[in-house]
This record gives sequence, C-alpha cells and structure tokens, in this order.
Amino acid sequence: MTTAEKQPMKLTLAKARAEHARLGAEIAEHDRRYHGEDQPTISDAEYDELRRRYTALEAAFPELAGADSESRKVGAPPSEKFAKVRHAVPMLSLGNIFADEEVEEFCARVRRFLGLGDTAALDVVAEPKIDGLSCNLRYENGELVRAATRGDGYEGEDVTANVRMVKAIPHRLKGAPGIFEARGEVYMRHADFAALNARQAEAGKQVFANPRNFAAGSLRQLDPGITASRPLAFFAYAWGEVSEPIASTQLGAVEAMRRFGLPTNPLTRLCHSTAELIAHYHAIEAQRATLGYDIDGVVYKVNDLTLQERLGFISRSPRWAVAHKFPAEKAMTIVEAIGINVGRTGALTPLAKLKPVTVGGVVVSNATLHNEDEIARKDVRVGDTVVVQRAGDVIPQILEVVLDKRPHPAPKPYVFPQDDKGNFVCPVCGSAALREIDEKTGEADVVRRCTGTLVCAAQAVEGLKHFVSRNAFDIEGLGEKLIELFFTEGMIRTPADIFTLNARDGQGRPPLREWEGFGELSARNLFNAIDARRSIALNRFLYSLGIRHVGETNARRLARHFGDWEALRAAARAENAAEELSSVEGVGPVVAEAVADFFAEPRNEAALDALVREVSIEPMEAIAAGHPLAGKTIVFTGSLERMTRDEAKAIAERLGAKVSGSISAKTDLVVAGPGAGSKLAKARELKVETIDEEEWVRRSGRG
Ligand code: IVH
Repeated sequence: MTTAEKQPMKLTLAKARAEHARLGAEIAEHDRRYHGEDQPTISDAEYDELRRRYTALEAAFPELAGADSESRKVGAPPSEKFAKVRHAVPMLSLGNIFADEEVEEFCARVRRFLGLGDTAALDVVAEPKIDGLSCNLRYENGELVRAATRGDGYEGEDVTANVRMVKAIPHRLKGAPGIFEARGEVYMRHADFAALNARQAEAGKQVFANPRNFAAGSLRQLDPGITASRPLAFFAYAWGEVSEPIASTQLGAVEAMRRFGLPTNPLTRLCHSTAELIAHYHAIEAQRATLGYDIDGVVYKVNDLTLQERLGFISRSPRWAVAHKFPAEKAMTIVEAIGINVGRTGALTPLAKLKPVTVGGVVVSNATLHNEDEIARKDVRVGDTVVVQRAGDVIPQILEVVLDKRPHPAPKPYVFPQDDKGNFVCPVCGSAALREIDEKTGEADVVRRCTGTLVCAAQAVEGLKHFVSRNAFDIEGLGEKLIELFFTEGMIRTPADIFTLNARDGQGRPPLREWEGFGELSARNLFNAIDARRSIALNRFLYSLGIRHVGETNARRLARHFGDWEALRAAARAENAAEELSSVEGVGPVVAEAVADFFAEPRNEAALDALVREVSIEPMEAIAAGHPLAGKTIVFTGSLERMTRDEAKAIAERLGAKVSGSISAKTDLVVAGPGAGSKLAKARELKVETIDEEEWVRRSGRG
C-alpha cells in the first residue's frame, strides 16, 4: 500500500463508486491501447497515476474491489491475430511504490507477514525494471518450443516464430531442467530504436513513440521476417513452469539462467538492508540515461524462494516483490518556434524549438514533431505550453498541448512553409515540397519532400557525392572527402560547378595546386579526370542526377525509350509528363511522378541548363546502332588490368551491349582475365566466344 492509499478519503461511497467506475473504464481503455495496439496515448507516469488513485479508492472503500475490478486484471486480452497460449503458471504484475520511504514499508510488510521481528535479517534482490514486453519462453529438453506474450496474464499470444528471429534469445539451453520456462523482457536498445525509427519516418512508415512500443510492435508482427530485421534484445529475470527447481534463491536462479545461456541483467544485486536497496536504486537511476535501453524503475524481490512461496500473491501482484518506479521524465515548457529540418534525401521534418527545460536531469530545447500529420493531430502551435517527455537519449517528444494554457488570442495552427501563391516549398532552397501519393492506397505519404534535388543545400553534398560516384559520372580522384571540402569552401554548389572548377581556379583564392595536400601534379590530374568525363551516356547522366526513385535500372529504361536528352527532357517537361513517362516500359506512376516533379522545379531546370552546357550527353540509339557489339550480351570474368570492371561495363553499355553477371545460353561474349574460374569453364562448355582483355580493348575501340 502506498502512502497515498493510506490517507483518509473525504468521499461518500456513492461518489467514490462513480469515480472508481470512471477510472476503471479509463484504465481498461489505456490497457487496450498499450497492450493490444502498442500505441499508448498517455505516458506511463499518467497511467500509474490513474492506477494509484484507483487502488487508493479501493483501499478506502474495499466494497469497490469486486471480481471485475481493474486491479485484478493484468495487461490486455490477447489479440485475435495470434494463436492463444494458456500459461502453465500465470504471468502476473507488480505493485508500484514511488518514494524512498515506501521501501522500508515494503520490507516491514514482508517481515510482518512472515512473522519476523522488525529487525530480522531480510535479503532482497534489486534489479532494473526493464521497459519492454514480457515474454514466456518454454524450453523442453533444452529446446525452445514456444514463446508467448503475457496477454491478460493467464493467456498470451503465440509469438514463437517471431521470437526465433531474435538473435539474443537462445534456441537451445545448456543444462536446464527438462521443462523450463524462462520469463523476461524483450526490449530494444536506444541506438537501434533511433536508427530504425528514423528509417521508418523517412520511408513514410509508422513511427513509434518509444523503444518499448517498437519492440512490442516488432514482436507482434504477422511477418517474422520483419521481426528479424529489427534488433531486439532480451533479459531473463523470472521463470514459469519448471520440472525441477533451479536454485533456492532469486539470485541463484538468475545465475542459473545465465549459465543456461540466457542473457540476464548485470545490475542485479543482492542487498541486505533497506539502505542498501535505496542506494542501489539511486545508483541505477544515475546510470539511467547512459544504459542504452529504457528502464522505468527498480524491482525488489525477496531473495529466499521458500519465503517467496510463503508470501504468495495478492490479487494481481506478488507480496514478495515490488517495483520502485522512477519519477517521470516529463516537464512542461513553451514552444518558441517550429522549424523545419531538411534531411539529406529531402525529407522535411518539423522540429519544435522549446524554452529550455530540465527533463530527468537533461536540458531539453528541441523536440521532434515527426511530420505534418503529427503536428495536426496534436495541434501544436507556436506559443503553446506542452508536456515533453524524454526517454533515455532518445530525441524528446511532445506528448500533448496543455490547452488551458494556450495564449489569447489563440495562435494560428502551424502550416508548413509556403510561397506567396500558397504552394508548399522547401525552407532551404525554395523548391516545391511535395507529398508523394502511394500507388496502392492512393493516400499522401506522411513525409513532405523537397524536389530541388540539384540545388537544395541540404541535399547538395549527398547529391554531389552521388553525382561523381562510380556508376554515375565516375570522376577519378574526386571522392567524397574532396566533394565535402569543395562544398564547404563554396567552390562547388551544383554539378555544373565541377566542370568549371578549372576555369575558376585561382579566382579570389589561391589556386588548387597551392592548397594543403595538393600539388602541381594532383591538381592537374584532377582537372584532367574531370575533362575526361565531359562526355557521358544518357542513362548514366540521368542516374547521376539523383532523382528520387531513378536508380540505374529506371535510368536505363527511360534513356532507351527516349533515345536522346532533348526528347527525354521534352517529355519530362510536358503538361502530361507523368502520364507520358509512365508509358515507358517498366516505369510505374510513382517513378514517373518523381521525374515529372523534378523537371517541373525551375531551380533544377536552371542547374540542368548550366550542366548541359558543360557536358555532352551521348544519345542511346547513336551508340547502339552500327557497332558490332551493339545488342550483344557480355560477361566479364577474372581481373582486368587496363580498366576497372565498372569502366568496362560502362564502355560496353555505351556501345549498346548488355552486361550480365552470369553465363547462360544467351551470353554472346565472355571477356576473361587472369584468375577466371568457373565462369570461364562454363563459357567453354556452352561454346560461348571467349576473348582476353587485349582483344576486348581492341574490339571496343579503346586500344
Ligand atoms: S518480475 C510476478 N522483474 O514489469 C512478477 N518484472 O509491472 C514477475 N518487468 O510484468 C515480474 N523488468 O513485464 C520483474 N526485473 C524485472 C522486470 C519486470 C520489467 C516487467 C514485467 C512485469 C511488469 C510488472
């Protein structure tokens, strides 16, 4: 019983009953959202507060604690998606305490129940309370046979297929009893959560509020393949059915589980006094932000398993254990501004600039707002007072707006940056910022993206790196480091600038040959390498532009279809561009739309004009016609000495040939260098014409 529960209540039974019913319905709804949908709408601390008030009412008016009381239920009933599993031993919950003084009360209660003196020795284990998803792992003869979620405590969901995908969970145990059920928490580390959630957001997929929901969502996937791609971790801290005891103490059992091969938490510790428990609690609390995973408190468990047995359970929780929760990492502050961050792929992410506030010991001045829909859903406006929450080192979130504190007159709802005509634009470069339409659902993507691929400073560096990369312009000696240097020095902003570097060299700054790390020779080599690429095949050119969804294959499809740059550009700029482009074989509406959006942006057009002045784009038909290698399928095998594999491939393609990685009846020619192995043998077997590099150089006209 917490301190709050013991305070006398100045309520009539009727009033208490009404409040109890209202709270009960609210708790049931939040349980359903949290356990059933993995999408809670209130914070854990708010939930705990509801529960605390609920149990306080029951403590004051015991007649309210009937059989259908929420205090007797655990979690939510299993969902319909998964087969159900009845737990051999129920998976129950834990009572909560919040203040240090309540630790002594817990120990005193235990002693009283056992009839021990007030000062009798009592060993208690303290360990972190992991904020994840509890799971029962059933091993028979050492083999993992079934995994189930907690569900309502009596019946959970069969998540065996998904759990088998979790690397941290052993499929075999060493030295465990014939039947052994390990219980513990599946969770996700902060670093993995942040990286994966960012990827989800970029891809316009569901973002998760915290690692727990992400872990839960991953484990309750119908497709185990998705679970496999989401790194989940596990800590064992309890057990269910066992065919023989594994230890006589809690700590001994944890150590036994570790010996069996199960991961256990290294901060598990045996304490001999209340003072030690409290000290360990604060030690764990101090490490909370740097642990790398979410914990929401410390669990105390009576160490002696015989005593645990005697203490037993009271409604939904054991008498021998309690969770000492951490104070909520939440705070209220004011939204001073809403800014937009443009990512390297052009995604516009709204960010709230906050009046700095300390949340869980860390000063917070920014919070992510994810996307437009999220801002609208929470209706966050500049000037609003908001509740922010921080979970470990995860980017702080805005939980909700405190509407009572909204200024008068109310600030306007936030809208993404627009130009004077009301079109959405990128705040960095002013290009149109659009939401793609999903081909299947017809719905707008949650992410708004800048279409100024060629000009946007936020995307420029990545775009330039792509532009010079091997399968694009492939400029020798102009690697990522140099692009970054030239960009920060302001020498290269758009692709065309690469080709005017030489002409501008020395203007307003020392010539390149005098830069640190450069010399006469390396500067000359670089300029020569750039000049060597002034002519490029249309498909490579198109690919180099970095248009969304236009990879090498789509670039080739478009280039083949239109043949030359003028025809392609005219089609892409036409009124019905998206329609026309989607008539190209293999090019779907999403790709067509992305190409049309790219060419519709005048800033890109200007950058393209400048680029086209510097380079010559070789038409496809011209190169495809006439040459003896045109239309042939070529396989390169073994090593080449005079050129790289990519270079040879580019030459072949420029001549209208197709390059394949494997030899079949369709192969026309094999170019074999030293070290060629099985492919060469196969070519001989199929009697495919085979030539060496010398001959290749001659035939391709590079000799
Ligand atoms: S012991 C009979 N130990 O917290 C109770 N639970 O709020 C057995 N949890 O259902 C639970 N870390 O999902 C225990 N070190 C820990 C825990 C832990 C997290 C979860 C577990 C439990 C819930 C209760």
